[in-house]
Amino acid sequence: MNTSTNIQNELVNLEKNALDQLTSVKNVQELSDLRTQLLGRNGELTRILRSIGELDVNERKITGQASNALKSKLEHALDRKNTDLISEQSSNLESIDVSLPGKYKPIGRLHPITQTLRQILDVLRRLGFTVVEGPEVELSSYNFDKLRIPENHPARDMWDTFWIDGKDEPMLLRTHTSPMQIRYMETHEPPIRVAVPGRCYRYEATDMTHEWMLQQVELLAIDKGISLADLKGTLHEFARQIFGPDSEVMLRNSYFPFVEPGVELAVKFRGKWLEIMGAGMVHPEIIENAGYDSSVYTGFAAGMGIERIAMAVYEVDDIRHFYTNDLRFLSQF
Ligand code: FA5
Repeated sequence: MNTSTNIQNELVNLEKNALDQLTSVKNVQELSDLRTQLLGRNGELTRILRSIGELDVNERKITGQASNALKSKLEHALDRKNTDLISEQSSNLESIDVSLPGKYKPIGRLHPITQTLRQILDVLRRLGFTVVEGPEVELSSYNFDKLRIPENHPARDMWDTFWIDGKDEPMLLRTHTSPMQIRYMETHEPPIRVAVPGRCYRYEATDMTHEWMLQQVELLAIDKGISLADLKGTLHEFARQIFGPDSEVMLRNSYFPFVEPGVELAVKFRGKWLEIMGAGMVHPEIIENAGYDSSVYTGFAAGMGIERIAMAVYEVDDIRHFYTNDLRFLSQF
């Protein structure tokens, strides 16, 4: 049986060995082998990350944080070495015919939004949520009506989008991940704790904090006795793990037809509040429509914007940078 202390010791040893090995790496191939040995599917750190699941909840949290910190430290050290090797090699290139086909292939990396999404899902899994996905092209009834947004309701204006001719009813590129609340409840019984990542689309004029395509993660928790305090606790712990213990977050009231009461969470970013998610207690009518007794079951839901969270994590002041595919921007992550 692994204990937290065993794992922490393994992490310390792994870090020391990895950094020693890194100093003796001589070329890009050796570096790639070392990356696989440490971080690959069967790599040393991956094996340790898997064993964290055997720990109890409190130990899991502390050890999980330490492992993730080591993971990003190693990733940075490997990336830095890669850059050093490439610049060393290119400084020896003077006598080489530059018109020959290239020999050095830059090593790719994950897009910052993918990195942020993976980090977010790691935190949510540790908080007890299972990850599921839903359709990106959605029926109008799931995107709106079943979420208590009837036709002509002013709230539909906030979610104008791209329409597709459906067979029996209009279809659209979903404007949020909330339709999966309904789909999941229709096919499952409580207790429910799911996180639903996915792309959403809005017919929107872009600006520094708005894109026409965005990624969200929906949270849904339904059980006996879930209260607003559970929602608040979950969101605060989530924010602490994503933005760090010194980050400032604010929960303020808001309105969404499918929750009662509704709230939104904002994080302090460069002296201003940046809204990162909407949330609230699932409306009793929605609980009843799912076939659950609303006097027994309650729950909370939330929908967070991944690009906005990435803005705050990486201190990016304009959301549009993420999708312009400029390598000068992307290679900084
Ligand atoms: C919604 O989408 C609700 N479905 C959220 C929700 C879920 C409320 C469950 C209650 C219960 P909203 O439109 O505020 O709400 O979007 C949620 C988050 O997505 C925002 O806080 C923001 O982080 C992100 N977001 C929304 N629109 C954009 C956009 N155009 N560009 C980038 N991010 C956006």
